Amino acid sequence: MATLLHIKSSIFGDAGQSAQLAARYVDQWQQKNPVGELVVRDIIADPVPHLDAERMQALGSDAGTRTAAQEAIVGYADTLLAEVKAADQIVIGVPLYNFGVPSQLKPWLDHLARAGVTFNYTENGPVGLIEGKKVVLLATRGGMYRDQGADYQIPFMRQFLGFIGLTDVEVVYAEGLAMGDHAEQSLNQARGELDQLVAAL
Ligand SMILES: Cc1cc2nc3c(=O)[nH]c(=O)nc-3n(C[C@H](O)[C@H](O)[C@H](O)COP(=O)(O)O)c2cc1C
Repeated sequence: MATLLHIKSSIFGDAGQSAQLAARYVDQWQQKNPVGELVVRDIIADPVPHLDAERMQALGSDAGTRTAAQEAIVGYADTLLAEVKAADQIVIGVPLYNFGVPSQLKPWLDHLARAGVTFNYTENGPVGLIEGKKVVLLATRGGMYRDQGADYQIPFMRQFLGFIGLTDVEVVYAEGLAMGDHAEQSLNQARGELDQLVAAL
């Protein structure tokens, strides 16, 4: 049975442009996978805590030596990771806010970056340990940044995901959403591209 993990990160909830594109993707995926499982991780409604020293120490601790508080922290991170590992596909709505990804998305990523669990450093550099998943990023922006040096959203996402082994990443861009008539044209193009992505599954 196919599993899709949907990460929601628009501060506007289901009204966000990235959320609406993601809903379209999920709808079509469900039509193609009527018995597939959809798992939703809504990091706006249910924020992931920011990393701090306590959480880092817990995540770096050895099993069997942990306090109850550390067990809870590791258990929580394990749950986030298990959702990723169980998924065949991951769809992430990624808005651009103040030149970066939503601040709520960063701690979700931070909890997935675990030495010895999701990546290892070898003599040849880092090796990601999560394999065999497709990730679809639905990138929404008020302006136009695609393939420009000022794009700190999608290159960052690709870098991070690749670091933990998620190298099969497709990006659908909806740009210029604050640029008058351009918005509808851009959204239409994004809808068409994501329809093709689901059709090609
Ligand atoms: C707080 C905030 C900051 C934003 N910063 C940027 C920005 O730096 N560059 C940009 O092109 N658009 C920016 N925008 C526009 C958003 O990228 C655009 O509204 C997009 O639709 C957001 O995705 P969402 O609707 O899924 O939340 C910003 C919007 C908000 C609300």
